[in-house]
Amino acid sequence: MRVLVVGSGGREHALAWKIAQSPRVDRVLAAPGSDGMGAVADCRPGVKAGDLEGICELAASEAVDLVVIGPEDPLAAGLADRLREAGVAAFGPSAAAAQLESSKAFAKAFMQRHGIPSADHVVVDDLDRALAHVRARGGPCVVKADGLAAGKGVFMCATTEEAEAALREIMETRRFGEAGARVVIEEWLQGEEASYHAITDGTNVATLASAQDYKRIFEGDQGENTGGMGAYSPAPVIDAAVEARILERIVGPAVEGMRAEGTPYTGVLYVGLIVDAEGNPSVIEFNARFGDPETQPLLVRMDGDLVPLLEGAARGALDPRAMPSFADAAVCVVLASEGYPRGYQVGRPIEGLADVESMPGVEVFHAGTRRTAAGGHETAGGRVLGVTARGSTVRDARDRAYAAASKIHFEGVTCRRDIAARAIDR
Ligand code: AMP
Ligand code: GLY
Repeated sequence: MRVLVVGSGGREHALAWKIAQSPRVDRVLAAPGSDGMGAVADCRPGVKAGDLEGICELAASEAVDLVVIGPEDPLAAGLADRLREAGVAAFGPSAAAAQLESSKAFAKAFMQRHGIPSADHVVVDDLDRALAHVRARGGPCVVKADGLAAGKGVFMCATTEEAEAALREIMETRRFGEAGARVVIEEWLQGEEASYHAITDGTNVATLASAQDYKRIFEGDQGENTGGMGAYSPAPVIDAAVEARILERIVGPAVEGMRAEGTPYTGVLYVGLIVDAEGNPSVIEFNARFGDPETQPLLVRMDGDLVPLLEGAARGALDPRAMPSFADAAVCVVLASEGYPRGYQVGRPIEGLADVESMPGVEVFHAGTRRTAAGGHETAGGRVLGVTARGSTVRDARDRAYAAASKIHFEGVTCRRDIAARAIDR
């Protein structure tokens, strides 16, 4: 069969790499894909992830059997709906179901309706009322722009003054544009963060595994939020008892609730969680797609074929026996450009990629690179590479990932040295 992956980041490179290994797949295409994905996918740089028309045309002209949608924006814009209307199997939720990610207010109200544990919250669409609310409640809170803001629209506010400043930035300055027309103000939950991925066809669920990502730019979780500086899987905070609670209290009711409301959820449901000291999980956010960078260690850990899961979910016939198994552990370390997540230079030659290719159990996924005229690669984005290794323990995988990362060099290369330390130093 032919599979088209939509997107161009490290997540999509990992998906294309895994899909290409399937005995059922004879061709992988990517739109737009990236220079770094060229070895595993036939990339169409002219067809961007947001070009719904172009993707539908490509799927038709290349007789694609399955489209796997990586990023959230095309899902929110209705790409999965458009493909299904055209008779093409699509992995990813409808725009209506993707609201679990694309509107925090929708997600919060949905969780409330279905008794899914998450932080207490209010939704406000007027600056004065929002200011009055944070002044009246006092103390720490979390302020979020309602719409999609590339992971950057969330402010952890220790004081009322910080909350006021965040509200002004979102609703007055409109730093995130229309995403800031409404805000969600919520209780600041205490505990350890982790994420969980489950694939569903709207009824049946195949569980993947737990993971933890590192969103802040600096070690010790200091500095600004980024798209993700690394991740590992599994996360020890999600032991068997916590996993059972996640399925029973969150994933099960979410899948059933969406079906009952007439907007069945198909695709992968990413659950961002806080687990409290008693092992009780609460939802911080749902994502309507695979996490990035979590997908990189998840897929490097996964044994067996991913495609039956993707296809089963897309066609409404997920076979629970297709449940994947996972090797012990994997760790992904992101190499970023100096200055990220603010301004950074691009066009810096990358050395050492070939040395790493021969290391067993190590995969390097490209997030922001491009080919040079000489046939090498140079930097082309903030997050440049995800160096991902599997191992017999998280420690082993971590050591392999850093050993590989140390062989790769470009001017200003930046990475966190403490990826997976939370699992190892427990
Ligand atoms: P979100 O985009 O909603 O996932 O939020 C981004 C990050 O903010 C999360 O990964 C958490 O670290 C943090 N966060 C969001 N909401 C809360 C909350 N209610 N309590 C504690 N931390 C939160
Ligand atoms: N790593 C978190 C996300 O993909 O949203």
